[in-house]
Amino acid sequence: MTTRFAQRMERVKPSAIRELLALGAAPDVISFGGGYPDAALFPYEELVAIATASIVENGAVNLQYSVSNGPHELRALVAGRMHGQGTPTDADEVLILHGGQQGLDLIAKLYLDKGDVVITENPTFLGGLLAFNPYEPQYAVVPIDNDGMDMDVLESTLLQYPGAKFIYTIPDFHNPMGVTMSLPRRKRLIELANRFDVMIIEDTPYREIRFEGESLPTLRSLDSEGRVLYLGSFSKILAPGLRLGWAVAAKPLIDKLTLLKLAADTQCSTLNMAIVTLFMRDYDLDGHIAGLRTAYRRKRDLMVQTIRETFPADVTYTIPQGGLFTWVSFRPGFDTAQFMRDVVLPQARVAYVPGATFFPLNEEHHHARVNFSAQSESKLITGMTAWGELLRQRY
Ligand SMILES: Cc1ncc(COP(=O)(O)O)c(C=O)c1O
Repeated sequence: MTTRFAQRMERVKPSAIRELLALGAAPDVISFGGGYPDAALFPYEELVAIATASIVENGAVNLQYSVSNGPHELRALVAGRMHGQGTPTDADEVLILHGGQQGLDLIAKLYLDKGDVVITENPTFLGGLLAFNPYEPQYAVVPIDNDGMDMDVLESTLLQYPGAKFIYTIPDFHNPMGVTMSLPRRKRLIELANRFDVMIIEDTPYREIRFEGESLPTLRSLDSEGRVLYLGSFSKILAPGLRLGWAVAAKPLIDKLTLLKLAADTQCSTLNMAIVTLFMRDYDLDGHIAGLRTAYRRKRDLMVQTIRETFPADVTYTIPQGGLFTWVSFRPGFDTAQFMRDVVLPQARVAYVPGATFFPLNEEHHHARVNFSAQSESKLITGMTAWGELLRQRY
């Protein structure tokens, strides 16, 4: 049979690193790979009570079809929460999504024709690239340091690609690097976007998982021209299996995204949306998040301490003020994928994400993304120490 796949499938391919990560999913492996929250911290009792009540008391509604943009009550709760945290938002400016990931896909569908330029941080979130790739963009990349995107390079990139469709950024506790964009850079980003008339995608699922320091204003709150499209998620603050997130943008944009959502999946799960609505309305989401912050801060500290004590002295790493990841950099020439496949995985049964996968254009092989939220504290120490010992022997 001839398979006449669309040309875009040329850009949809499994990567060698995905296959390597699949090996890391074996039950005896201590994985620092996925961006998983700690399953021990899911609010089980509350969710059992809410899920049961959602069916028993209101099953006729909650097991039925609903609206594409999400029930008004949930959108109003999300808008109120964002408003309370300094980003004025109206319920009509909110679209409930099947996770933030769906937002990336719908945004790509909304904006990208073949060959269009997307500006990303370098490195950037792999899921963003996976969502954008089928729409066949070209990437222009901007380096990122401890204060976020380099705005001088962004300016010259915008001069080079004045018709770029959007700038994709993860300003808070970046995936994969764990760094946060400083306030001056946030302001400069908005200025540049205004000057070059380009959209900004602000993807910020980790925003509320802050361990220390003051929360910085969202790009959306600094934007006076309606050019920031904000993506949030319930995955890290509640549970990723619910598959719920949200977009916030000017209403005409939300209306367009809603049309695309209707075509993609009609709506999110009515039941899951009801569960999250009741959790936000009747339970203590802020209290729950405060517990996550405390637990993940401890794990961040343990992670950083174990790297400092057991990894070779020239290894550098970011110290994130929040989120789930640290980014570890080895000397140039060292290949973290090869070392994981040949040494760390077989000998220590430890996995991480080799950094190359996060670079849209020129892969750098000497970094690793390390997650500190998913493993228990004892496994975190055991796994990182074993990796460090192998590094000291073989690096
Ligand atoms: C930067 C970033 N954006 C979006 C997502 C998508 O999250 P979800 O679809 O679970 O909301 C993730 C998940 O890890 C992420 O790290």
